[in-house]
Amino acid sequence: MTDPAYPATRLRRTRTTAWSRAMVRETRLDPSDLIWPLFVTDGDEAEPIASMPGVSRWPVEMIADRAAEAREAGIPCVALFPNTPPDLRSDRGDEAVNPDNLMCRAIGEIKDACGEDIGILTDVALDPYTSHGQDGVVDGGGYVLNDDTVSILVEQALNQAQAGADIIAPSDMMDGRIGAIRHALEDDGYTNVQVMAYAAKYASAFYGPFRDAVGSRGLLKGDKKTYQMDPANAEEALREVAFDIAEGADSVMVKPGMPYLDIVRRVKERFEVPVFAYQVSGEYTMIEAGAAAGSGERDALVLESLLAFKRAGCSGMLTYHALDAARLLNS
Ligand code: PBG
Repeated sequence: MTDPAYPATRLRRTRTTAWSRAMVRETRLDPSDLIWPLFVTDGDEAEPIASMPGVSRWPVEMIADRAAEAREAGIPCVALFPNTPPDLRSDRGDEAVNPDNLMCRAIGEIKDACGEDIGILTDVALDPYTSHGQDGVVDGGGYVLNDDTVSILVEQALNQAQAGADIIAPSDMMDGRIGAIRHALEDDGYTNVQVMAYAAKYASAFYGPFRDAVGSRGLLKGDKKTYQMDPANAEEALREVAFDIAEGADSVMVKPGMPYLDIVRRVKERFEVPVFAYQVSGEYTMIEAGAAAGSGERDALVLESLLAFKRAGCSGMLTYHALDAARLLNS
């Protein structure tokens, strides 16, 4: 269809008033689009994270209150990340499979307080538990071993499911891990535990503040380029997504977020599956620093950036701004 020419067509007509703009609005942002990542600490007090102004690590005893706040604001799901004490980190990340680790205790607190009223998404990868900060087990040369890692990730996923996790979200980028985890969940009776695959996860420079938050920045030598994707590649992202869906993922994620919205759009157009994106720590910090430096009004920057994810095709976003954004949307 072609529009009749100007002046019969004046695209500004529908923009004239607020009510009219509301009528033709194509995309809406809602608190139910948001997933709130929360960091958990073994300490007894909230620990502000220097590189993420406004974000803290929470002790297990305070985590249920955060989940309750999220639920009150209409957020359907929280995502948990542990800052494992240094003495519990090891070569093979054994703490990841401890049924009494920080993650499992935090899941228990939230389930006790909120029951089925809010979802809990848990990250599967070994980096918060390894002494070298890589997401898997490494050989003598520092190469992350795929199949050895997958067998530990399966145990980690079962440990989280056992503790009450609702959505298992593997962020490690090993080949074959979605299928292995799905099979193990089925075999052990966790048939309704979902898998959200970090399907197209890039070796990005935007993860720095997160590594501070989980305490792996100082430990990590080198990079994650032998398993996370090259930021230059888009077709490869579609192959990753195809594999993860074939292996049983209920939903897929693109990560980071804003610099990768072209990937979101291509995935959304190609596959019939819910697509999520992670607005990562470096993006959060960039928006906060930008607002402080005069890039724009902070709340408006937050909401516009999240709306862009919806417009690109996301079903939802993981964002550290989730609680603030939900409250803005509610007010
Ligand atoms: C761990 C993991 C990372 C993030 C989520 N899960 C970091 C990494 O891969 O190094 C990053 C999230 C963020 O930057 O907010 N596998």
